[in-house]
Amino acid sequence: MDTILILDFGGQSCHLISRRLRDFGVYAEVLPSDYSAAQVMARPEVKGIILSGGARSVYEKNAPEFDPAIFALKMPIFGICYGHQLLAKELGGTVTPGEVGEYGPQVLTVLKKSGIFSKLGVKQKIWMNHKDIVTKVPKGFTVIGKTSHKTQVAAYSSKDNMRSGVQFHPEVSHTEHGDDMLKNFALTICKAKPTYSSANLLKDTIKEARDTMGAERAVIGLSGGVDSSVAAALVARAIGEQLTAVYVDTGLMREGETTYLRKAFGDKGLKLIIVDAAEEFFGALKGVTDPEEKRKIIGTLFVRIFEREAKKADAQWLIQGTIYSDRIESGLTKHSSNIKSHHNVGGLPKDLGLKLYEPLRDLYKDEVRTLAKTLKLPKEITDRQVFPGPGLAIRIIGEVTRERAEIVRKAGHIIESELMGTKHWKDIWMSFGVFLPVQSVGISGDERSYKHPLVLRIVESRDAMSANFAKLPYEILENISTRLTNEIKEINRVVYDITNKPPATMEWE
Ligand code: XMP
Repeated sequence: MDTILILDFGGQSCHLISRRLRDFGVYAEVLPSDYSAAQVMARPEVKGIILSGGARSVYEKNAPEFDPAIFALKMPIFGICYGHQLLAKELGGTVTPGEVGEYGPQVLTVLKKSGIFSKLGVKQKIWMNHKDIVTKVPKGFTVIGKTSHKTQVAAYSSKDNMRSGVQFHPEVSHTEHGDDMLKNFALTICKAKPTYSSANLLKDTIKEARDTMGAERAVIGLSGGVDSSVAAALVARAIGEQLTAVYVDTGLMREGETTYLRKAFGDKGLKLIIVDAAEEFFGALKGVTDPEEKRKIIGTLFVRIFEREAKKADAQWLIQGTIYSDRIESGLTKHSSNIKSHHNVGGLPKDLGLKLYEPLRDLYKDEVRTLAKTLKLPKEITDRQVFPGPGLAIRIIGEVTRERAEIVRKAGHIIESELMGTKHWKDIWMSFGVFLPVQSVGISGDERSYKHPLVLRIVESRDAMSANFAKLPYEILENISTRLTNEIKEINRVVYDITNKPPATMEWE
């Protein structure tokens, strides 16, 4: 299958590039930055290379390693952000340390409408995230795009388009025509054939699961969310009866979750065990306020429970529905930094008594949803809002208690049910409340009240790597606010979180 290689220089959105290419049917693979030219040459299916963004400076001593022979290969190379700077520097251009960075949305003026900018308009909404800049292009190259930044080369290419670079990130959804630029590169410049599909992915993953586990038994942590449901359905197809699903009721789940799960999976031929562990979880979290500590405690407790259940089921494997964005934000890819320890990745103890298999480890959420459709899972599972592994604990700032869990559980239910009937529901990635351990003054009847505020968080996103707060009509927000303050006696104020990701994350911890 025609393939584009992406060399990972450590950008948070590196993997997203492969995601975008796979979306339009071109198979793409993310590899370490030091993948050699000889390794590329040994693979005739490779049609082009993308150099990703990264957090370092090309002049830094501990910059990611690479093979300089890559730049002499007779195939198209496209540099993004750090990759754009590295490509310029290696081919004889100049990269200068920037004094102030450019972060967030910008407007690009396209100076040459060919190559990666073929068939695009002159003004492009793009998204930048960098400090260093390319100030001079290599000999024989042309500047093909600029922003309001005076000295910066925002985009360049060689005459034959075999080498090009952009300072911005075409892979993030904030770059309006980023997909078209990547298509221009992969389909037109590299001439890669788009033969990759979700059906192929399903077939390959089932085979991989079968080959990995053979005749051994496995347990899977089923949370009721899309990821673990897809992982369970997929592995059940691969190893059938050898699989036992374990649902842990932590006391930190959504309203009605256990009942939902019993209904959704109880009669689907999947061996399902429900463990009531609320007591254990609240006990372990007593007095803990640090977000990372909470995540690690929850992760470890989950695993201990799975180990217990695995022993009973005589299983050797633990399967988790970890997806790529969980791993990248936990700092588990080669150059990425730890934003937060996603519970199903960051909390695994070193002495895990089980072998770990994560069939969805390279996929993004919308790819998982597509897989769910290919697997013919019911709509009620595939269309559910995302819910984080550590549950309501990361929506309670400060100590986690039963009472606080009840507040955010009720809040989440009210928020979701108010939004569900509106036309905005389909665009919403997540909607929930966050408890703050502070109080403010209000009025209740004719009396003074002194209660907690609740943060209303409603975000839209395509793949969890970036997100925008939902710009909903005030009437909807007002209905939600009224219900929250009327129905939850501990709340007297509702504030709407109007921050995008980045700079915030969706959850508060
Ligand atoms: P953030 O808050 O990082 O969240 O912007 C991105 C998406 O990931 C979910 N999330 C998690 N999911 N385990 C999970 O399975 C975790 O530890 C975890 N932390 C965040 C979050 O709900 C959002 O959908």
